[in-house]
Formats: sequence, C-alpha cells, structure tokens
Amino acid sequence: MSHAATGQPKTRDDAWEMVCRHVQERGLRRHMLAVSTAMADYARRLGQDEAYWATVGLLHDFDWEIHPDLDRHPIAGAALLRAEGWDEETIRVILSHYTEGTGVERTKPIDFALLACDEITGLVIAATLVKSSRNIADVSVDTIRKKWKDKRFAAGVDRDDVIAYTADFSRECFGGGLELWTHIAHVLQAMQANAAELELDGRLSA
Ligand SMILES: [Fe+2]
Ligand SMILES: [Fe+2]
Repeated sequence: MSHAATGQPKTRDDAWEMVCRHVQERGLRRHMLAVSTAMADYARRLGQDEAYWATVGLLHDFDWEIHPDLDRHPIAGAALLRAEGWDEETIRVILSHYTEGTGVERTKPIDFALLACDEITGLVIAATLVKSSRNIADVSVDTIRKKWKDKRFAAGVDRDDVIAYTADFSRECFGGGLELWTHIAHVLQAMQANAAELELDGRLSA
C-alpha cells in the first residue's frame, strides 16, 4: 500500500525501507548509513533534530543504484520520493547535495552538513576495510591522515571537495571554527560509535 499523500511524517525507518527496496549493494547501503551516522552526530552538536538529520543522510543516495549517473541522480530520485509521499523539504535538501545539476542552492545547516559528511565517510570506510581486522576501532585520525595524503587511495574521494565542503559547513554552522581534521575526527568517532550497524566492527574480517 502506498503511503503517498497520507500526510504521515516520514521516519528513519521509512528511509531505510526505501533504501532496502532500491539498493542491493552492501557498500552503497553502508555509505548511506555512515552519512546518516555522521549527520546525527552533527545534529546533536548543533542542537538540531537528530532523527531528521539521520533520516536525510540515510536517504540521500537511495536512487544511485537505479540512477547511477548525475544526469538522473538525484533528480529522478526526487520524483520517486514525491510519489511516495516524502515532503518537499526533504526533497529540497537531497537536491541541494548536487547543486551543479539541480540548481538547488545549499542554504540551511542540514544542507551543508550533508555535503561535509558525504565523501569523507568514504575515506573512513576505505581506511577500515584495508585493515586486516576490518575494525574501525583500529582506525585513528592519523590512519586517515596517511590515507588522505596517498591520492591513489580511495581516489574517488576528492580531497579538494572535502576541504571546500568542510569550509562551507564550518562557515555556515560553526562561525568558521570547524577545522578539517577536527571534522574528520568527529566523523570517525561517530562511525566508531555505530560500528556494528556499519558492519565495521570486525565481522567482515576473513
Ligand atoms: Fe549523491
Ligand atoms: Fe552520498
């Protein structure tokens, strides 16, 4: 049964249900869980709505497996969200994570948080999965720093993007006081605290 137009506020469980329906690939699910985790942590730090920020983080790439190019993602995904009764504000935030393609500018704290958490979680995950323990408890900020300098490692994580998006987030939400490596430490700590859900607690070690 469709919940479209029932007016029921959507929850993180609804986001997860949407993700599970559209994403089979474990890594992409993990990406969204990681962004959700980092955003929830920042919502707490900023006195924002933790459950809502977690929901948006969890949902933001739900259509990447079915629309795996930037001609369709996230615009075609927005249409699916609308059809399923997701609210326009949530759709706006998701569209703002690709302003170049959607024309939707980032204006609110949650918009800046999403971008700042998006790519860096990928570097943290990659740094964990190259450890034989596959345990994020064995990853430190220094580990990430070494991997950051090795441009061939997790080359899809554009370091310049991370620097720019962190600077935007810092300016908009921390009065310029959030330094890059403090941000990375926050993201790492949040992910460490949620290691089981991310399957980064060693269960993937051979
Ligand atoms: Fe995306
Ligand atoms: Fe993403």
